[in-house]
Amino acid sequence: MSAIVEVEGLTKRYHKRASKEVVTAADGISFRVDEGEILGLLGPNGAGKTTTIKMICSLLKPDAGRVLVRGIDTQRHRLRALRHLSAVLEGNRNLYWRLSVRENMLYLAGNRGVSARVARPKIDALLGRFGLSDKADELVNNLSRGMQQKLALAVAMLAETDVVLLDEPTLGLDVGTGLEVRELLRDVAAEGRTVIISTHDMAVVQELCKRTVIISAGRVVADERVSNLLALFATRGYRVSLGAPLSAEQERRLAHTFAVFAYGEPELVLNVTLEHPEDIYRLMEILRLERTPVEDLGRTQVDFERVFLELTREETGRI
Ligand SMILES: Nc1ncnc2c1ncn2[C@@H]1O[C@H](COP(=O)(O)OP(=O)(O)O)[C@@H](O)[C@H]1O
Ligand SMILES: [Mg+2]
Repeated sequence: MSAIVEVEGLTKRYHKRASKEVVTAADGISFRVDEGEILGLLGPNGAGKTTTIKMICSLLKPDAGRVLVRGIDTQRHRLRALRHLSAVLEGNRNLYWRLSVRENMLYLAGNRGVSARVARPKIDALLGRFGLSDKADELVNNLSRGMQQKLALAVAMLAETDVVLLDEPTLGLDVGTGLEVRELLRDVAAEGRTVIISTHDMAVVQELCKRTVIISAGRVVADERVSNLLALFATRGYRVSLGAPLSAEQERRLAHTFAVFAYGEPELVLNVTLEHPEDIYRLMEILRLERTPVEDLGRTQVDFERVFLELTREETGRI
């Protein structure tokens, strides 16, 4: 498959006026997105997701690096490249608050050079699909946060671009609306569009994305299929029940050998995360030092949240 979006070495520094402090929000971010793929751009608050999305859609000029959409450089041929992109940014900045729902959609269609006659039936269909038909004449200002978010998605759909960028599409939504928005996103993806979703919502990544690029402090710390990440971590977490307490020497060696381990008395349970599957033998050697009885040995359950936390912890920010 060929890449439809190529992000190469994107770097952005902000200069804070008051403190004169320089914040490196993106520090050489690179990744590629294949046609028809839904990519999750995941990271904690302040990781640089919004900055990256804004650079991809050319709202923000990078200090270094470039973005190609269908091979077209977004800085050198901005308009040509942007024809392939639509974006839903944080805080619904794409909507006109003093226009009605339908007027917003007609306005966007006009901007894209589509006549009202051609746009109207598409708009009606989208409003129906997004559950907004009975709000068609309501001012955006009067809509709930969830309705506004759905409208912003509908507006992005109307543009019928190959690539859709979504910045935190479920942020601030109640549980029910979040679920509804995830369903709508699944539909959008099924249409074969390429979608980049920035989020710190694990449910979005786990349910919608085959692949995720995880960023932390402006850098890519993982670029993997979601299933691979889960499998990788599943084979690395072990829980060992011991028949006797560990000696101080054993504890010291464990701390020296494994970046992530936890040991509790009086339960005598040891949890370790292995860097490599063969490290299980090193674990066994340490236990053998005192002939510590092993009563039970099993894999730790992994969920995506744990994978994410481990990857974005600075000291183990690598796999
Ligand atoms: N306009 C700005 N001026 C100064 N610093 C900014 C600005 N926008 C973002 N930042 C800083 O850049 C970093 C990345 O921000 P952002 O891209 O919004 O992260 P995310 O979307 O992942 O939460 C943060 O430390 C944030 O405080
Ligand atoms: Mg953000």
